[in-house]
Amino acid sequence: MNNNYDIVYISPEPGSLILENKNNVIELHPLWLRERALNKDLLDPISKQRKYEHSFFDTNLKVVSAKISNYPSLEITFSDSFLGNFDINKIKSEIGWIKDNESPPEIESWKSSLQINRIDWECLEDPIKLKTMLGDFFKYGFCIMENTPSENNSLLHLASKFGYVRHTHWGKLFNVKIKKDPTDTAYTDSALSSHTDNPYREPIPGIQFLHCLENNVSGGLSTLVDGIALVEQLQTELPEHSNILERIKVRFRYEGPSAILENWGSIIERNHKNIVNRIRLSNRLDYVPALDKKSLDLFYTGRKRLNELSNDSNFQIQFPFQKGTLLMMDNYRLLHGRTKYNGNEGSRYLQGCYTDHDGVTSLYRMLSNGSKATRVPTEL
Ligand SMILES: [Fe+2]
Repeated sequence: MNNNYDIVYISPEPGSLILENKNNVIELHPLWLRERALNKDLLDPISKQRKYEHSFFDTNLKVVSAKISNYPSLEITFSDSFLGNFDINKIKSEIGWIKDNESPPEIESWKSSLQINRIDWECLEDPIKLKTMLGDFFKYGFCIMENTPSENNSLLHLASKFGYVRHTHWGKLFNVKIKKDPTDTAYTDSALSSHTDNPYREPIPGIQFLHCLENNVSGGLSTLVDGIALVEQLQTELPEHSNILERIKVRFRYEGPSAILENWGSIIERNHKNIVNRIRLSNRLDYVPALDKKSLDLFYTGRKRLNELSNDSNFQIQFPFQKGTLLMMDNYRLLHGRTKYNGNEGSRYLQGCYTDHDGVTSLYRMLSNGSKATRVPTEL
């Protein structure tokens, strides 16, 4: 049947549905369709969860008939006499024929020429401006907010707008300033090379926030690098080496007075769409397994080049923190660091914390669906 250029018909054996339009054709499995039926009695009205066990379906189920009755409504009858109601636009969205308006924008890789947008904290009470900023976060992996409240520990409140703050053995917040007997280079005035945080944790913190409470030194610029752009460059220069950084799982380890933490993962990782979406790079924490010489030759040369690229000014943006600046960055995708400064010149005091990706992604989806929410729900 034809409606808005979509045609549905049955492939008699094996009883699949064929969906076709001007540009595409796809065979849809009867069970794939059946568990997407939208009949009101099948789904919980609040949670939208299925009220049935799909394992009860006959694995030989077939589609018997189908019609687009009142576009985009699609009715399908199955071999067990069930009449299912479907939304053909939801199906087309899921198979990628039309844009999914709910999902965040796709990743866009960037280099040092990227123009940095800064948004005033007050503007984020407007759901439209908030959605635009979150869209940029998904495209570029970070966003910068200015004029936030800058009292000590106010980061806990600020970050909770976007997600639930991760409690680690360091507490909910960490203080980035010069410390006596520093336990990390971050607590000195030295430069920090590009890195991702905490690859030894399981799961690795998804989003990092850095909030400036005080800064009156001339150096200490914050640096950001897009890990996706680095991988694109490495794939161009050294494809075989890039591939082995995807294949080999590396051990990352932290050992301190109060915790010993380990996690394994590849330096370059792809998502379910086979798109590179994660990088793990931390010079002082990685231990590759004792593999054969050829594999490790490729690994070490590839890792060395990736490190060089991560500190190459062509890939790096630098910006100063001012009192009230809040940086939100994707710790799976971006690398961050700092230029050196002179601690005798004044003080530089940042607080940091982590959240997971869930909060930001959910907030974006809610806004896409017309919600006026301007923060994730408050923790109970
Ligand atoms: Fe860091």
